[in-house]
Amino acid sequence: MDKLLIEGGTPLKGSVRISGAKNAALPAMAAALLTSDRVELENIPRVRDIITMGRLLAHMGAIVETPAIPPTAMIFQAEEVNGAEAPYELVKTMRASILTLGPLVARSGHARVSLPGGCAIGARPVDLHLKALEQMGAEIGMSHGYVEARAPRGGRLPGGRVFFDKITVTGTENILMAAVLAKGETLIENAAREPEITDLAELLIKMGADIEGAGTSTIRVHGKEKLHGAKHTIIPDRIEAGTFLVAGAITKGDLELTGCAPEHLTSVIAKLRETGVDIRETGPGKLRVRGAKKLVASDVITEEYPGFATDMQAQFMALATQAEGTSVITETIFENRFLHASEMIRMGANISVEGRRAVVHGPATLSGSEVIASDLRASASLVLAALVARGETVIDRVYHIDRGYERIEEKLAGVGAVIRRV
Ligand code: EPZ
Repeated sequence: MDKLLIEGGTPLKGSVRISGAKNAALPAMAAALLTSDRVELENIPRVRDIITMGRLLAHMGAIVETPAIPPTAMIFQAEEVNGAEAPYELVKTMRASILTLGPLVARSGHARVSLPGGCAIGARPVDLHLKALEQMGAEIGMSHGYVEARAPRGGRLPGGRVFFDKITVTGTENILMAAVLAKGETLIENAAREPEITDLAELLIKMGADIEGAGTSTIRVHGKEKLHGAKHTIIPDRIEAGTFLVAGAITKGDLELTGCAPEHLTSVIAKLRETGVDIRETGPGKLRVRGAKKLVASDVITEEYPGFATDMQAQFMALATQAEGTSVITETIFENRFLHASEMIRMGANISVEGRRAVVHGPATLSGSEVIASDLRASASLVLAALVARGETVIDRVYHIDRGYERIEEKLAGVGAVIRRV
Protein backbone atom coordinates (compact mmCIF):
# COMPACT_ATOMS: atom_id res chain seq x y z
CA MET A 1 0.00 0.00 0.00
CA ASP A 2 1.32 3.45 -0.92
CA LYS A 3 2.46 5.87 1.75
CA LEU A 4 3.35 9.54 1.59
CA LEU A 5 6.51 10.78 3.30
CA ILE A 6 6.53 14.46 4.08
CA GLU A 7 9.30 16.53 5.64
CA GLY A 8 7.65 19.62 7.13
CA GLY A 9 8.81 23.17 7.49
CA THR A 10 9.17 24.52 3.95
CA PRO A 11 7.06 27.55 2.97
CA LEU A 12 5.29 26.69 -0.29
CA LYS A 13 6.02 29.11 -3.13
CA GLY A 14 4.99 29.20 -6.76
CA SER A 15 1.98 28.40 -8.87
CA VAL A 16 -0.46 25.46 -8.76
CA ARG A 17 -3.07 24.62 -11.37
CA ILE A 18 -6.39 23.49 -9.94
CA SER A 19 -8.00 20.43 -11.55
CA GLY A 20 -11.60 19.89 -12.52
CA ALA A 21 -14.06 19.07 -9.75
CA LYS A 22 -14.42 15.36 -8.98
CA ASN A 23 -17.84 15.95 -7.46
CA ALA A 24 -19.06 17.73 -10.60
CA ALA A 25 -17.45 15.24 -12.99
CA LEU A 26 -19.08 12.18 -11.38
CA PRO A 27 -22.71 13.27 -11.94
CA ALA A 28 -21.80 14.60 -15.40
CA MET A 29 -20.47 11.15 -16.31
CA ALA A 30 -23.65 9.51 -15.00
CA ALA A 31 -25.65 11.96 -17.15
CA ALA A 32 -24.11 10.35 -20.24
CA LEU A 33 -26.48 7.42 -19.57
CA LEU A 34 -29.40 9.69 -20.50
CA THR A 35 -28.68 9.75 -24.23
CA SER A 36 -27.56 7.40 -26.99
CA ASP A 37 -25.37 10.22 -28.40
CA ARG A 38 -21.79 11.13 -27.51
CA VAL A 39 -21.17 13.20 -24.41
CA GLU A 40 -17.76 14.87 -24.37
CA LEU A 41 -16.49 16.15 -21.06
CA GLU A 42 -13.40 18.25 -20.48
CA ASN A 43 -11.48 19.20 -17.34
CA ILE A 44 -12.03 15.78 -15.79
CA PRO A 45 -9.55 15.14 -12.97
CA ARG A 46 -7.56 11.94 -13.30
CA VAL A 47 -8.48 10.51 -9.90
CA ARG A 48 -9.51 7.06 -8.70
CA ASP A 49 -13.26 7.80 -8.35
CA ILE A 50 -13.41 8.89 -12.00
CA ILE A 51 -11.84 5.59 -13.07
CA THR A 52 -14.41 3.73 -10.96
CA MET A 53 -17.31 5.65 -12.50
CA GLY A 54 -15.88 4.96 -15.99
CA ARG A 55 -15.83 1.24 -15.18
CA LEU A 56 -19.39 1.38 -13.93
CA LEU A 57 -20.62 3.07 -17.12
CA ALA A 58 -18.71 0.56 -19.26
CA HIS A 59 -20.35 -2.25 -17.25
CA MET A 60 -23.71 -0.75 -18.23
CA GLY A 61 -22.81 -0.86 -21.92
CA ALA A 62 -21.39 2.61 -22.48
CA ILE A 63 -18.28 3.19 -24.58
CA VAL A 64 -15.79 5.13 -22.48
CA GLU A 65 -12.88 6.82 -24.26
CA THR A 66 -9.96 8.59 -22.67
CA PRO A 67 -8.19 10.44 -25.50
CA ALA A 68 -4.56 11.45 -25.00
CA ILE A 69 -5.28 15.03 -26.09
CA PRO A 70 -6.47 16.98 -24.26
CA PRO A 71 -5.40 14.87 -21.29
CA THR A 72 -8.41 15.91 -19.21
CA ALA A 73 -11.07 14.90 -21.75
CA MET A 74 -13.35 11.87 -21.61
CA ILE A 75 -15.96 10.79 -24.12
CA PHE A 76 -18.96 8.61 -23.33
CA GLN A 77 -21.53 6.98 -25.54
CA ALA A 78 -24.31 4.85 -24.12
CA GLU A 79 -25.97 3.84 -27.39
CA GLU A 80 -27.78 1.07 -25.55
CA VAL A 81 -28.00 0.57 -21.82
CA ASN A 82 -27.72 -3.21 -21.60
CA GLY A 83 -27.23 -3.91 -17.94
CA ALA A 84 -29.24 -1.34 -15.97
CA GLU A 85 -27.42 -2.51 -12.87
CA ALA A 86 -24.68 -1.15 -10.61
CA PRO A 87 -23.04 -4.17 -8.93
CA TYR A 88 -21.85 -4.27 -5.32
CA GLU A 89 -18.24 -4.83 -6.45
CA LEU A 90 -18.09 -1.31 -7.86
CA VAL A 91 -20.55 0.47 -5.53
CA LYS A 92 -18.68 -0.65 -2.41
CA THR A 93 -15.59 1.25 -3.56
CA MET A 94 -17.48 4.44 -4.37
CA ARG A 95 -20.75 5.66 -2.88
CA ALA A 96 -21.26 8.08 -5.77
CA SER A 97 -22.26 5.01 -7.86
CA ILE A 98 -25.77 5.75 -6.55
CA LEU A 99 -25.74 8.61 -9.10
CA THR A 100 -26.53 6.07 -11.83
CA LEU A 101 -29.92 5.22 -10.27
CA GLY A 102 -31.77 8.34 -11.52
CA PRO A 103 -30.46 8.29 -15.11
CA LEU A 104 -30.89 4.51 -15.44
CA VAL A 105 -34.52 4.45 -14.37
CA ALA A 106 -35.21 7.51 -16.55
CA ARG A 107 -33.63 5.94 -19.64
CA SER A 108 -34.55 2.26 -19.23
CA GLY A 109 -37.66 2.36 -17.07
CA HIS A 110 -35.91 0.25 -14.47
CA ALA A 111 -32.65 0.16 -12.52
CA ARG A 112 -30.96 -2.08 -10.01
CA VAL A 113 -28.21 -0.49 -7.93
CA SER A 114 -26.42 -2.04 -4.99
CA LEU A 115 -27.00 -0.17 -1.74
CA PRO A 116 -23.80 1.52 -0.60
CA GLY A 117 -22.80 0.46 2.90
CA GLY A 118 -21.88 2.83 5.72
CA CYS A 119 -18.73 4.84 5.43
CA ALA A 120 -16.03 6.21 7.73
CA ILE A 121 -17.60 9.68 8.03
CA GLY A 122 -21.16 8.58 8.81
CA ALA A 123 -24.02 6.21 8.01
CA ARG A 124 -24.84 8.08 4.79
CA PRO A 125 -28.17 6.44 3.91
CA VAL A 126 -29.83 6.95 0.51
CA ASP A 127 -33.42 7.03 1.82
CA LEU A 128 -33.94 10.59 0.56
CA HIS A 129 -32.98 9.60 -3.00
CA LEU A 130 -35.49 6.74 -2.89
CA LYS A 131 -38.32 8.74 -1.34
CA ALA A 132 -37.86 11.43 -3.98
CA LEU A 133 -37.95 8.87 -6.81
CA GLU A 134 -41.19 7.54 -5.32
CA GLN A 135 -42.58 11.06 -5.32
CA MET A 136 -41.80 11.12 -9.06
CA GLY A 137 -43.86 7.97 -9.56
CA ALA A 138 -41.19 5.23 -9.36
CA GLU A 139 -41.85 1.97 -7.57
CA ILE A 140 -39.01 1.17 -5.23
CA GLY A 141 -38.15 -2.28 -3.92
CA MET A 142 -35.23 -3.75 -2.01
CA SER A 143 -33.80 -7.22 -2.24
CA HIS A 144 -30.46 -8.89 -1.60
CA GLY A 145 -28.78 -5.58 -0.77
CA TYR A 146 -29.94 -3.95 -4.00
CA VAL A 147 -32.45 -1.20 -4.59
CA GLU A 148 -34.71 -1.60 -7.59
CA ALA A 149 -36.52 1.32 -9.13
CA ARG A 150 -39.19 0.93 -11.80
CA ALA A 151 -41.20 3.41 -13.79
CA PRO A 152 -44.88 2.45 -14.27
CA ARG A 153 -45.12 -0.35 -16.89
CA GLY A 154 -41.37 0.03 -17.52
CA GLY A 155 -42.06 3.27 -19.43
CA ARG A 156 -41.23 6.83 -18.46
CA LEU A 157 -41.44 8.25 -14.96
CA PRO A 158 -44.48 10.51 -14.55
CA GLY A 159 -42.58 13.27 -12.66
CA GLY A 160 -44.05 15.02 -9.65
CA ARG A 161 -43.49 17.25 -6.68
CA VAL A 162 -40.38 16.32 -4.73
CA PHE A 163 -39.61 17.73 -1.32
CA PHE A 164 -36.29 16.86 0.33
CA ASP A 165 -36.64 16.71 4.15
CA LYS A 166 -32.93 17.35 4.32
CA ILE A 167 -30.67 18.94 1.73
CA THR A 168 -28.74 16.29 -0.20
CA VAL A 169 -26.24 16.96 -2.97
CA THR A 170 -26.19 13.63 -4.82
CA GLY A 171 -29.92 13.19 -3.99
CA THR A 172 -30.70 16.44 -5.85
CA GLU A 173 -28.45 15.38 -8.74
CA ASN A 174 -30.11 11.96 -9.01
CA ILE A 175 -33.59 13.46 -9.13
CA LEU A 176 -32.56 16.13 -11.60
CA MET A 177 -31.26 13.41 -13.94
CA ALA A 178 -34.41 11.32 -13.45
CA ALA A 179 -36.65 14.33 -14.10
CA VAL A 180 -35.16 15.43 -17.43
CA LEU A 181 -36.61 12.39 -19.21
CA ALA A 182 -39.89 12.19 -17.23
CA LYS A 183 -43.27 12.48 -18.95
CA GLY A 184 -44.38 15.51 -17.01
CA GLU A 185 -43.08 18.30 -14.86
CA THR A 186 -41.02 17.82 -11.69
CA LEU A 187 -40.69 20.42 -8.98
CA ILE A 188 -37.75 19.84 -6.64
CA GLU A 189 -38.04 21.72 -3.35
CA ASN A 190 -35.32 22.15 -0.73
CA ALA A 191 -32.81 21.26 -3.42
CA ALA A 192 -29.06 21.51 -2.81
CA ARG A 193 -27.50 24.69 -4.23
CA GLU A 194 -23.90 23.55 -4.65
CA PRO A 195 -22.02 24.74 -7.78
CA GLU A 196 -21.82 21.05 -8.78
CA ILE A 197 -25.65 21.04 -9.14
CA THR A 198 -25.54 24.11 -11.37
CA ASP A 199 -22.78 22.56 -13.46
CA LEU A 200 -24.79 19.36 -13.93
CA ALA A 201 -27.86 21.39 -14.91
CA GLU A 202 -25.77 23.30 -17.47
CA LEU A 203 -24.66 20.04 -19.07
CA LEU A 204 -28.23 18.68 -19.08
CA ILE A 205 -29.50 21.89 -20.68
CA LYS A 206 -26.83 21.53 -23.40
CA MET A 207 -28.20 17.99 -23.89
CA GLY A 208 -31.66 19.46 -24.54
CA ALA A 209 -33.17 19.38 -21.03
CA ASP A 210 -35.58 22.04 -19.82
CA ILE A 211 -34.49 23.10 -16.31
CA GLU A 212 -35.12 26.30 -14.37
CA GLY A 213 -33.79 27.34 -10.99
CA ALA A 214 -30.64 25.18 -10.62
CA GLY A 215 -28.47 26.82 -7.97
CA THR A 216 -31.55 27.82 -5.97
CA SER A 217 -33.56 25.66 -3.57
CA THR A 218 -36.45 25.24 -6.04
CA ILE A 219 -35.77 23.55 -9.36
CA ARG A 220 -38.41 23.06 -12.04
CA VAL A 221 -37.88 20.48 -14.77
CA HIS A 222 -40.10 19.85 -17.82
CA GLY A 223 -39.35 16.32 -18.93
CA LYS A 224 -38.30 15.66 -22.54
CA GLU A 225 -38.79 12.50 -24.56
CA LYS A 226 -35.16 12.41 -25.62
CA LEU A 227 -31.86 14.13 -24.92
CA HIS A 228 -28.96 14.50 -27.34
CA GLY A 229 -25.18 14.62 -27.06
CA ALA A 230 -23.21 17.61 -25.82
CA LYS A 231 -19.76 18.96 -25.01
CA HIS A 232 -19.11 20.38 -21.58
CA THR A 233 -16.20 21.62 -19.48
CA ILE A 234 -16.36 20.66 -15.79
CA ILE A 235 -15.99 23.45 -13.21
CA PRO A 236 -12.77 23.75 -11.20
CA ASP A 237 -12.52 21.80 -7.95
CA ARG A 238 -13.36 24.22 -5.14
CA ILE A 239 -12.24 21.76 -2.47
CA GLU A 240 -8.85 21.17 -4.07
CA ALA A 241 -8.49 24.97 -4.37
CA GLY A 242 -9.46 25.41 -0.71
CA THR A 243 -6.96 22.74 0.29
CA PHE A 244 -4.13 24.57 -1.54
CA LEU A 245 -5.20 27.88 0.03
CA VAL A 246 -4.72 26.25 3.43
CA ALA A 247 -1.40 24.77 2.25
CA GLY A 248 -0.13 28.26 1.40
CA ALA A 249 -1.45 29.66 4.66
CA ILE A 250 -0.24 26.93 7.00
CA THR A 251 3.32 26.94 5.62
CA LYS A 252 3.42 30.77 5.62
CA GLY A 253 4.15 30.57 1.93
CA ASP A 254 3.18 32.52 -1.17
CA LEU A 255 1.13 30.50 -3.62
CA GLU A 256 -0.78 31.35 -6.75
CA LEU A 257 -3.71 29.13 -7.70
CA THR A 258 -4.70 29.17 -11.36
CA GLY A 259 -7.71 27.70 -13.12
CA CYS A 260 -9.90 28.03 -10.03
CA ALA A 261 -13.33 29.61 -9.49
CA PRO A 262 -13.00 32.17 -6.66
CA GLU A 263 -16.79 32.76 -6.76
CA HIS A 264 -17.30 29.20 -5.42
CA LEU A 265 -14.91 29.80 -2.53
CA THR A 266 -16.53 32.78 -0.84
CA SER A 267 -17.10 31.19 2.58
CA VAL A 268 -13.68 29.50 2.67
CA ILE A 269 -11.87 32.71 1.67
CA ALA A 270 -13.83 34.73 4.24
CA LYS A 271 -12.95 32.22 6.98
CA LEU A 272 -9.27 32.10 6.06
CA ARG A 273 -9.12 35.91 6.00
CA GLU A 274 -10.64 35.92 9.49
CA THR A 275 -7.63 33.91 10.69
CA GLY A 276 -5.30 36.55 9.22
CA VAL A 277 -4.41 34.92 5.89
CA ASP A 278 -3.94 37.28 2.94
CA ILE A 279 -5.92 36.09 -0.11
CA ARG A 280 -6.33 38.15 -3.26
CA GLU A 281 -7.85 37.63 -6.68
CA THR A 282 -5.01 38.33 -9.06
CA GLY A 283 -6.81 37.75 -12.36
CA PRO A 284 -9.58 35.64 -13.88
CA GLY A 285 -9.53 32.25 -12.15
CA LYS A 286 -6.47 33.22 -10.12
CA LEU A 287 -5.97 33.52 -6.38
CA ARG A 288 -2.84 34.43 -4.46
CA VAL A 289 -2.48 33.30 -0.86
CA ARG A 290 0.16 34.53 1.53
CA GLY A 291 0.55 33.23 5.05
CA ALA A 292 0.17 35.59 8.00
CA LYS A 293 3.02 36.09 10.49
CA LYS A 294 0.52 35.15 13.15
CA LEU A 295 -2.67 33.16 12.60
CA VAL A 296 -5.59 33.83 14.93
CA ALA A 297 -8.22 31.31 16.03
CA SER A 298 -11.66 31.40 14.45
CA ASP A 299 -14.79 29.26 14.89
CA VAL A 300 -16.38 27.45 12.00
CA ILE A 301 -19.69 25.67 11.43
CA THR A 302 -20.09 23.43 8.38
CA GLU A 303 -23.20 24.06 6.32
CA GLU A 304 -24.66 23.34 2.93
CA TYR A 305 -23.52 25.66 0.12
CA PRO A 306 -23.03 28.62 0.23
CA GLY A 307 -22.00 27.91 3.85
CA PHE A 308 -18.60 26.53 4.86
CA ALA A 309 -18.23 23.10 3.19
CA THR A 310 -17.91 19.96 5.30
CA ASP A 311 -15.32 18.88 2.71
CA MET A 312 -13.05 21.71 3.98
CA GLN A 313 -13.55 21.07 7.69
CA ALA A 314 -10.59 18.73 8.21
CA GLN A 315 -8.22 21.05 6.34
CA PHE A 316 -9.43 24.01 8.43
CA MET A 317 -8.73 21.98 11.57
CA ALA A 318 -5.11 21.53 10.47
CA LEU A 319 -4.83 25.32 10.11
CA ALA A 320 -6.53 25.89 13.48
CA THR A 321 -3.80 23.88 15.22
CA GLN A 322 -1.40 26.67 14.15
CA ALA A 323 -3.65 29.61 15.13
CA GLU A 324 -3.33 31.48 18.38
CA GLY A 325 -6.33 30.93 20.65
CA THR A 326 -9.27 28.54 20.72
CA SER A 327 -11.14 27.54 17.56
CA VAL A 328 -14.46 25.71 17.88
CA ILE A 329 -15.27 23.59 14.83
CA THR A 330 -18.85 22.33 14.54
CA GLU A 331 -19.66 19.63 11.98
CA THR A 332 -23.36 19.62 11.11
CA ILE A 333 -23.44 17.54 7.90
CA PHE A 334 -21.86 14.20 8.84
CA GLU A 335 -22.00 12.58 12.28
CA ASN A 336 -18.50 11.12 12.39
CA ARG A 337 -16.22 13.42 10.48
CA PHE A 338 -13.49 14.10 13.06
CA LEU A 339 -11.37 11.00 12.51
CA HIS A 340 -8.42 13.20 11.52
CA ALA A 341 -8.44 14.83 14.99
CA SER A 342 -6.97 11.80 16.74
CA GLU A 343 -4.16 11.60 14.17
CA MET A 344 -3.42 15.33 14.58
CA ILE A 345 -3.35 14.81 18.35
CA ARG A 346 -0.70 12.13 17.79
CA MET A 347 1.30 14.80 15.94
CA GLY A 348 1.07 17.09 18.99
CA ALA A 349 -2.13 19.08 18.36
CA ASN A 350 -4.31 20.10 21.27
CA ILE A 351 -7.81 19.09 20.19
CA SER A 352 -10.77 17.76 22.15
CA VAL A 353 -13.77 16.29 20.39
CA GLU A 354 -17.20 16.16 21.94
CA GLY A 355 -19.92 14.86 19.66
CA ARG A 356 -20.18 17.20 16.70
CA ARG A 357 -17.81 19.79 18.14
CA ALA A 358 -14.05 19.90 18.12
CA VAL A 359 -12.20 22.44 20.24
CA VAL A 360 -8.71 23.27 19.01
CA HIS A 361 -6.24 25.15 21.20
CA GLY A 362 -3.33 26.64 19.34
CA PRO A 363 -0.72 27.19 18.34
CA ALA A 364 0.79 23.74 18.80
CA THR A 365 4.16 22.55 17.63
CA LEU A 366 3.45 19.50 15.50
CA SER A 367 6.04 16.79 15.12
CA GLY A 368 6.35 14.31 12.28
CA SER A 369 4.66 10.99 13.12
CA GLU A 370 3.22 7.92 11.51
CA VAL A 371 -0.46 8.57 10.82
CA ILE A 372 -3.30 6.83 9.03
CA ALA A 373 -5.62 8.44 6.49
CA SER A 374 -9.24 7.51 7.19
CA ASP A 375 -11.08 9.23 4.34
CA LEU A 376 -10.42 11.57 1.45
CA ARG A 377 -10.52 14.98 3.15
CA ALA A 378 -9.02 13.64 6.41
CA SER A 379 -6.02 12.50 4.35
CA ALA A 380 -5.67 15.98 2.86
CA SER A 381 -5.73 17.50 6.35
CA LEU A 382 -2.93 15.18 7.48
CA VAL A 383 -0.84 16.24 4.48
CA LEU A 384 -1.39 19.86 5.54
CA ALA A 385 -0.44 19.13 9.16
CA ALA A 386 2.65 17.27 7.94
CA LEU A 387 3.73 20.25 5.82
CA VAL A 388 4.14 22.31 8.97
CA ALA A 389 5.31 19.57 11.35
CA ARG A 390 8.92 19.22 12.49
CA GLY A 391 10.56 16.21 10.94
CA GLU A 392 9.09 13.48 8.80
CA THR A 393 5.47 12.36 8.71
CA VAL A 394 4.49 9.06 7.15
CA ILE A 395 0.87 8.94 5.98
CA ASP A 396 -0.47 5.45 5.47
CA ARG A 397 -3.49 4.42 3.35
CA VAL A 398 -3.07 7.26 0.87
CA TYR A 399 -5.41 5.49 -1.55
CA HIS A 400 -8.05 7.65 0.11
CA ILE A 401 -6.34 10.81 -1.17
CA ASP A 402 -5.95 9.33 -4.65
CA ARG A 403 -9.74 9.05 -4.88
CA GLY A 404 -10.10 12.81 -5.12
CA TYR A 405 -6.80 14.70 -5.49
CA GLU A 406 -4.98 14.61 -8.80
CA ARG A 407 -1.21 14.09 -8.52
CA ILE A 408 -1.15 15.70 -5.09
CA GLU A 409 2.50 14.95 -4.36
CA GLU A 410 3.57 16.24 -7.78
CA LYS A 411 1.62 19.46 -7.33
CA LEU A 412 2.97 20.00 -3.80
CA ALA A 413 6.55 19.15 -4.79
CA GLY A 414 6.21 21.65 -7.65
CA VAL A 415 5.80 24.46 -5.11
CA GLY A 416 8.61 23.33 -2.86
CA ALA A 417 7.16 20.69 -0.53
CA VAL A 418 9.47 17.88 0.46
CA ILE A 419 7.16 14.97 -0.28
CA ARG A 420 7.48 11.57 -1.87
CA ARG A 421 5.42 8.45 -2.35
CA VAL A 422 6.75 5.06 -1.38
C1 EPZ B 1 -21.82 14.87 -1.48
O1 EPZ B 1 -22.11 13.64 -0.83
C2 EPZ B 1 -20.34 14.84 -1.82
N1 EPZ B 1 -20.08 13.72 -2.69
C3 EPZ B 1 -19.53 14.73 -0.52
O2 EPZ B 1 -18.16 14.81 -0.86
C4 EPZ B 1 -19.88 15.92 0.39
O3 EPZ B 1 -19.20 15.78 1.62
C5 EPZ B 1 -21.39 15.95 0.63
O4 EPZ B 1 -22.09 15.98 -0.64
C6 EPZ B 1 -21.83 17.17 1.43
O5 EPZ B 1 -21.45 18.35 0.79
C7 EPZ B 1 -20.30 13.85 -4.00
O6 EPZ B 1 -20.73 14.89 -4.50
C8 EPZ B 1 -19.97 12.68 -4.86
P1 EPZ B 1 -25.44 14.52 1.08
P2 EPZ B 1 -23.62 13.19 -0.61
O7 EPZ B 1 -26.44 13.58 0.54
O8 EPZ B 1 -24.46 13.72 -1.70
C9 EPZ B 1 -27.71 12.72 4.85
C10 EPZ B 1 -15.89 14.22 -0.70
O9 EPZ B 1 -15.04 14.23 0.23
N2 EPZ B 1 -28.52 11.94 3.90
O10 EPZ B 1 -25.55 15.94 0.68
O11 EPZ B 1 -23.60 11.73 -0.35
C11 EPZ B 1 -26.24 12.31 4.85
O12 EPZ B 1 -26.02 11.16 5.61
C12 EPZ B 1 -17.29 13.71 -0.46
O13 EPZ B 1 -15.61 14.57 -1.86
C13 EPZ B 1 -29.54 11.15 4.39
O14 EPZ B 1 -29.81 11.11 5.58
O15 EPZ B 1 -23.97 13.98 0.71
C14 EPZ B 1 -25.58 13.56 5.36
O16 EPZ B 1 -25.68 13.58 6.76
C15 EPZ B 1 -17.48 13.09 0.86
N3 EPZ B 1 -30.26 10.42 3.49
C16 EPZ B 1 -26.45 14.68 4.77
O17 EPZ B 1 -27.70 14.07 4.42
C17 EPZ B 1 -30.01 10.46 2.15
O18 EPZ B 1 -30.72 9.79 1.38
C18 EPZ B 1 -25.90 15.35 3.53
O19 EPZ B 1 -25.40 14.37 2.65
C19 EPZ B 1 -28.97 11.26 1.67
C20 EPZ B 1 -28.23 12.01 2.57
